[in-house]
Amino acid sequence: VDEQLAPGRPGPPRSGRTRELDLLLAVDRSAATPLRAQLEDAIRSAVREGRLVAGTALPSTRALAAELGVSRGVVVEAFGQLAADGFLQIHRGGATRVAHVPPPVHGPPSGPTAPATAPPAAPSAFDLLPMSGDLVGFPRRAWGRAIRGVVDATPAPGLSYGDPRGPERARTVLAAYLGRSRGVLATPDTTALTAGVTEGIGTLARALAATGARRIAVEDPGFAPHRRTLQDAGLLPVPVAVDAGGLRVELLDGAGVDAVLVTPAHQAPTGRPLSPERRTALVRWASEHGAVVLEDDYDGEFRYDRQAVGALQALAPDHVAYCGSVSKTLAPALRIGWVVAPAPLLDAATRLRLIATGGTAALEPLALAAMIDDGDYDRHLRGRRRVYAARRRVVEQAVLDLLPDGEPIGIPAGLSVPVLLPPALDPVGLAAAAHRRGVLVAVVPVVLDGREHTLVQIGFGRQAESGLRRAVGLLADAVAEVAAA
Ligand SMILES: Cc1ncc(COP(=O)(O)O)c(C=O)c1O
Repeated sequence: VDEQLAPGRPGPPRSGRTRELDLLLAVDRSAATPLRAQLEDAIRSAVREGRLVAGTALPSTRALAAELGVSRGVVVEAFGQLAADGFLQIHRGGATRVAHVPPPVHGPPSGPTAPATAPPAAPSAFDLLPMSGDLVGFPRRAWGRAIRGVVDATPAPGLSYGDPRGPERARTVLAAYLGRSRGVLATPDTTALTAGVTEGIGTLARALAATGARRIAVEDPGFAPHRRTLQDAGLLPVPVAVDAGGLRVELLDGAGVDAVLVTPAHQAPTGRPLSPERRTALVRWASEHGAVVLEDDYDGEFRYDRQAVGALQALAPDHVAYCGSVSKTLAPALRIGWVVAPAPLLDAATRLRLIATGGTAALEPLALAAMIDDGDYDRHLRGRRRVYAARRRVVEQAVLDLLPDGEPIGIPAGLSVPVLLPPALDPVGLAAAAHRRGVLVAVVPVVLDGREHTLVQIGFGRQAESGLRRAVGLLADAVAEVAAA
């Protein structure tokens, strides 16, 4: 039985502005979904679809209950939940109004610039950018099989709006996979799908800001785009120095921060793991300060000399939110990632995500789950590790042979070899000189142990092994040109 409050619907005479609403709210008493949840959904949809704009006064709970033929308690509870979710504002003694979702608070710009990469004006013969794995090696056949299987097997209801954390099946498979591959302590309930690490970090940051967090420590040097992501979410990134052991955790006390963003398995961009002592110190600091650590595990699947260090999250699942994605393992274009976070933080982030995006894709995560289930994902990773380990060896040797002033740093992991160059080199000039020779490469100025350096990230994910030595030779020519200038 559909009962609607609609314009022109015959009914009791209406009085007062709040009764004049052009609403189309429906509840179905024969449906399994509780009436309160139906009403919440209906109002949420009306807000999302722009039928209820910010500031609009809703009917009183009594009037709406009468209109819908439900008890007043149902409406009171729905309004309460929607207010907690940020959709409505309840004013004591006045009308409940549709909330205005506040724009994010922007902190002052901070931190180093993004890596200098010359504009790809001319087609480049050598792509040494560190941003993805080998897209030519994308497992098209396995992915195609998985997505086809999901499309064929998903019943019609599965194509509707679903759990905003992503489909349960995908969360279950992922939680188990993250447990066995990265040591993450995950359950389907503490796991949510995202559109990638960046989106996960942004949403978690927004949830932290909503509960009063203001300042978040970020690694210096660090992954510059995430500073902007955090600022956009309303947090002020506070740079904290990195050295050979990773983030200098002892500096956190003086930083006055409420949270930390860190890349513990493979610090971006210096390529070294957080030392065991600092891992322990970081989670101790977080639990003593009631702070949250955001763990960016962007490339934790790729370690070539030994078993990868497990996730930091396992040391303190109540204080660490773990983020990962398939951007390095499959392709950035899929925009599939995940978050494993303490329940209250995950709930808050999920609510914000629902407001911001209306939900989470279901089919692609289910295809990923199918690939994991079939063993295709692990097989793909094993093959990639072999290819990347060989490429990495070529790059490292080429740097030793052809770039004698350069110092390769970092562990055998990930998709690039970070190389420290003499300090005085101009990063933009170097990226441009490399580009003139047909080499695309990321160059970033860094301060390590109080000294300035130029850091070149020689990515080997996108460049076939056969061209790598030649590319490093051309890069060496570019370094010589800029050093002589
Ligand atoms: C350190 C780091 N974190 C996160 C990302 C982005 O991940 P995603 O594509 O999953 O948002 C990258 C991409 O290069 C990265 O280098």
